[in-house]
Amino acid sequence: MEKDNLCKHIAIIMDGNGRWAKKRSMPRTYGHKKGAENVVNITRAMKDSGVEFLTLYAFSTENWQRSEEEVNALMNLLNEYLDKEFKEIMDNDVRIIFIGERDMLDKNIQKKMAYIEKESNNNTSLTLCVALSYGSRQEIVNTVKNIAKNVKEGAIGIEDISIDLINKNLYTRDIPDPDILIRTSGEQRISNYLLWQLAYTELFFTKTYWPDFGKDELLDIIQQFNNRERRYGKN
Ligand code: IPE
Ligand code: IPE
Ligand code: MG
Repeated sequence: MEKDNLCKHIAIIMDGNGRWAKKRSMPRTYGHKKGAENVVNITRAMKDSGVEFLTLYAFSTENWQRSEEEVNALMNLLNEYLDKEFKEIMDNDVRIIFIGERDMLDKNIQKKMAYIEKESNNNTSLTLCVALSYGSRQEIVNTVKNIAKNVKEGAIGIEDISIDLINKNLYTRDIPDPDILIRTSGEQRISNYLLWQLAYTELFFTKTYWPDFGKDELLDIIQQFNNRERRYGKN
């Protein structure tokens, strides 16, 4: 039996900030603050694990429907971290990329995102992909539109449409499919995350709320992954 157990890419649905705060009788926004601190913590832990790509679900297209107060608090946190973490990102040789519907974000935030992507583009220790205003169905719609446009203009024919071509038109074109998906907080669903890319990903669900998810649990999941057998439909 062929084994393919090298984990290159971990994707995480960072869920449970609100419940973490509620348990402590604190506002949901406090949970988001602690969640943001844990992003830094887990990114650091990842650097020593040999994993090359980390994709974090920070804000979904559906999350725009939350209260104005919560959305503003999340956007302010994002703005703060884009400034505050820039030096650490560069010092640690981390490449940052963003996936999602950028147009829905504040112009000032969009500018900072583009700047960080450009400045960190040649860093090689870890690629941190942040899914921000991200929805997988929207990504697929966008991909279909791009391909249809190319067909209409005669740049490609219908027979050129392939799995590979679709991969090349997704926001994730520069990164391999995830080997591991982790969702914290006990929920067992995908919530519009990387639907195409997760086709053969190994899934891990933990009851831990995101602010409490630490390095030990991360390393334990990588260990469990190492003991799983991936078959890709073969016998
Ligand atoms: C995840 O935590 C963070 C975001 C979705 C932005 P939640 O805010 O969803 O926390 P719960 O699920 O309500 O506990
Ligand atoms: C998924 O969590 C999105 C992020 C973690 C950013 P949600 O809390 O929004 O997902 P549902 O609503 O429980 O499916
Ligand atoms: Mg949630």
